[in-house]
This record gives sequence, C-alpha cells and structure tokens, in this order.
Amino acid sequence: MPKGKIRPYELKDREAIRQICFETGFMGEPADFYWTDMESFADMWSSYYTDHEPESVLVAEVDNEVVGYLLGCLDSKKAYNPVKIGARYAFLGGGLLNSGTRPVLLRTVRDTVADLISRKSPLTGPFDDPRWPSHLHIDFLKKGRGLGLGREIMTTWLERLRSKGSPGCHLETLAENHSAIAFFKTMGFELFGEPQLAPGIRSPKGVRVHGQVMVQTL
Ligand SMILES: CC(C)(COP(=O)(O)OP(=O)(O)OC[C@H]1O[C@@H](n2cnc3c(N)ncnc32)[C@H](O)[C@@H]1OP(=O)(O)O)[C@@H](O)C(=O)NCCC(=O)NCCS
Repeated sequence: MPKGKIRPYELKDREAIRQICFETGFMGEPADFYWTDMESFADMWSSYYTDHEPESVLVAEVDNEVVGYLLGCLDSKKAYNPVKIGARYAFLGGGLLNSGTRPVLLRTVRDTVADLISRKSPLTGPFDDPRWPSHLHIDFLKKGRGLGLGREIMTTWLERLRSKGSPGCHLETLAENHSAIAFFKTMGFELFGEPQLAPGIRSPKGVRVHGQVMVQTL
C-alpha cells in the first residue's frame, strides 16, 4: 500500500493545490467540461486559503507527491466570496470573452433570475451562521483516495478547530455528491437545511445540481 502522510501547508505546495482544485472541481472529476480557465477557477476556490490563511491549510502526500488538501477557514466572515471573484474575472479578467467560461457565466445569471422569479431559490450569499463559523474544502486526486488520508486530514483539522475554540464547522457540497456526503457523515457532519439549486452549474449530462450544507458542532 502507498505510504501517505498529512502535513501543514508550505508555499511550495501552492501550484499543486491549484491543479488539484481544478482536476477535482466537479464532484472529484475535472471541472474543465464547464470551466476551462484553471487560474480563475483556482482563484475562486483556493486562493483565499493558500494566500490569506495558510495556517489552516493541510496537505496529504503520497510518496512525496501532494495528492490532496484540506483548505480550512476559522472565521468564514474573513473568507473571499467566490461569486465576487468570478464576477471580477467575468468583467475585468476577460471571462465573458472566453468561450471556455462565457456559457456558464451567462447561464449563472439566467438561472439566478429564473429561480428568483419562479421562487425556486432565494438569493443567498455564502452560508453564515454563528453556530458553525468555520468551514472547509477537501479534495483528493483519485490516487490519494481510499487510503485513510481523508479521515486523517479531517481529524487534524477538527482538532485544530477545537484547540482554537471554534464552536462549529460547516461545509458546502453538492447534494448529488453521494460519496462525499457519506464520507462527511462518517466524519461527524450532519445535513443542514434543504438542497438548493446551484445557479449555472450542470452535470456533464446537462442536469441541474443542488448545493447542500453540512455542519458539525465541536
Ligand atoms: C471525499 C474524500 C475527501 C474522502 O477522502 P478519502 O481519503 O477517500 O477517505 P478515507 O479513505 O480516509 O475514508 C474515511 C472514511 O470515510 C468513509 N468513506 C469514504 N468514502 C466513502 C463513500 N463513498 N461511501 C461511504 N463511506 C466512505 C470510509 O469508509 C472511511 O471510513 P472508516 O475510516 O470508518 O473506515 C475523497 O474521496 C475525495 O477527495 N473525493 C473527491 C472530491 C470530493 O468529492 N470532495 C468533496 C467536495 S465537497
């Protein structure tokens, strides 16, 4: 069995984390079927953690290669809003001119307006509840999964949160990501609230997907 370990983030891991973020960006599969620009994708989903709260980032290594990460945040009020980063990329970074990102950006606007009109979804920002102020993202390349490293990295993160006095942690996943939800339940998280339509995002077969919040009190 390959030998893996969990360790704190170092600056040299930044590029590997951005790559893994993109390669696992849709329920553990590559995000490039709907978003081809790796840099803006990583800016949305990993830059806050690596660049502003690196002490809350953990990496998993197998045979000295980074194969996964946990991107944590102690106080979610401080984290960037990925929607704002996406909007900046759309209007100032050329996203609306890029054929690899324009369709999903336009669809996000269409979905948001249509869901509001049909009352299928209230317009809400990132999850914000003082009972679970911390949050995390976790992703492993396929070669790093099923080795026990997910449990180890999550346990390390939850211990850090307890030592820092955080009352609770939340995460947002897709309701359709049954295997991640099973993992999070194993690690002590519970479903919180109903799944909400995720604007703009479709499965590779073109089906709409839903965001699902999970929480754990510490
Ligand atoms: C979800 C993920 C982080 C789990 O990490 P992992 O290293 O594969 O998990 P582990 O091998 O440490 O397993 C930990 C526990 O979770 C359980 N588990 C993991 N995946 C499971 C699944 N699909 N169904 C049921 N249980 C599962 C394991 O049985 C294990 O339980 P045990 O320790 O009591 O035996 C990893 O598989 C992954 O990155 N998946 C793709 C990306 C993704 O979906 N990320 C979440 C996005 S929100």
